[in-house]
Amino acid sequence: MAQDTVKIGLILPMTGPFASTGRQISTAAEAYMATHGDEVAGTKVELILEDDGGVPDQTKRIAQEMVVNEGVKVLAGFGLTPLAFAAAPIATQAKVPMVVMAAATSSITEKSPFITRTSFTLPQATVPLARWAADNDISKVVTVVADYAPGIDAENAFVNEFKNQGGEIVESIRVPVANPDFAPFLQRVRDAQPDAVFVFVPSGVGSAFMKQFQDRGLADAGIKLIGTGDVTDDDILNDMGDVAKGVITTHHYSAAHESAENDTFKQAFKDAGGDRPNFMAAGGWDGMALIYQALEKTGGDASGPALMEAIKGMEWESPRGPVSIDPETRDIVQDMYYREVKDVDGELYNVEFGKEEAVKDPAKAAKN
Ligand code: DHB
Repeated sequence: MAQDTVKIGLILPMTGPFASTGRQISTAAEAYMATHGDEVAGTKVELILEDDGGVPDQTKRIAQEMVVNEGVKVLAGFGLTPLAFAAAPIATQAKVPMVVMAAATSSITEKSPFITRTSFTLPQATVPLARWAADNDISKVVTVVADYAPGIDAENAFVNEFKNQGGEIVESIRVPVANPDFAPFLQRVRDAQPDAVFVFVPSGVGSAFMKQFQDRGLADAGIKLIGTGDVTDDDILNDMGDVAKGVITTHHYSAAHESAENDTFKQAFKDAGGDRPNFMAAGGWDGMALIYQALEKTGGDASGPALMEAIKGMEWESPRGPVSIDPETRDIVQDMYYREVKDVDGELYNVEFGKEEAVKDPAKAAKN
């Protein structure tokens, strides 16, 4: 019966420069439904996927259309920060939950009381890395970030924490978001001769960065590469070659994470037509897990306020490890892993070698 179907509107960049994010998340969401069925608490769940091409005006228009004309009860996806920002007013006006599966600027969850998140925040990933660097003989760093909100978050988090630990920031460089030419920036890094370069680039851009890191001879000059795990994204890591080996990153998900939940996830992702899932896919899978559990808790009541109440304090075992939703901020709390790129049976992986447990978004913790 039509009234017993809960429609989830999944809005993603399926075309354009960030299409890999859309492909990873949509495959994972479909894999979740294939594994867990399309019925929750006696209610049928239907996923409606639409492509916003990575254009904020499109995200907003599609969100509006889904809520008003299609009766969508939950909005989900949001592959980039500007896309999440654009849709936030729709969630507030329509009182429809918005599950951010990808975008990772700290302030996104503050843009509407109907927003929750299953990806991560840049400060959450970055602060542990700044500590690791200071503890591991790195004293001079140049930061290189994509010049938009999550990059600024990463730069601020790294610079503040690394300085707190007694480190020195030689220079902070911001590069264009889409199709940047890293060569001139990396030449500047080489000339500055830091111990390490800290990098944040969005998912999919890491290959271009690595190639220039190699071509500019930074590794040969003894400059270490460290970053959030976005740069060694599992989707493209295996094709990066030897230059990626030894790169240290911090992040919430690695395809090499050893757990039964991750094995199930990876198999389901393959069965749904994917190859190796990356952290975007983990955000998509967990976003569906959150929606299913919320519906379970409300007994199928899909009204926005009921679902938002249900998600607060929710805990579950994700393919990445244990996660929960902070009841105050509606943001995700999760372990942050230290990883090194290594060859595992002939393929490159982010191999975890330590973690900080149950990390809350430090940017919000500092404000509250
Ligand atoms: C964002 C996008 C990414 O691809 C990523 O890896 C991290 C953050 C963003 O736009 O918020």
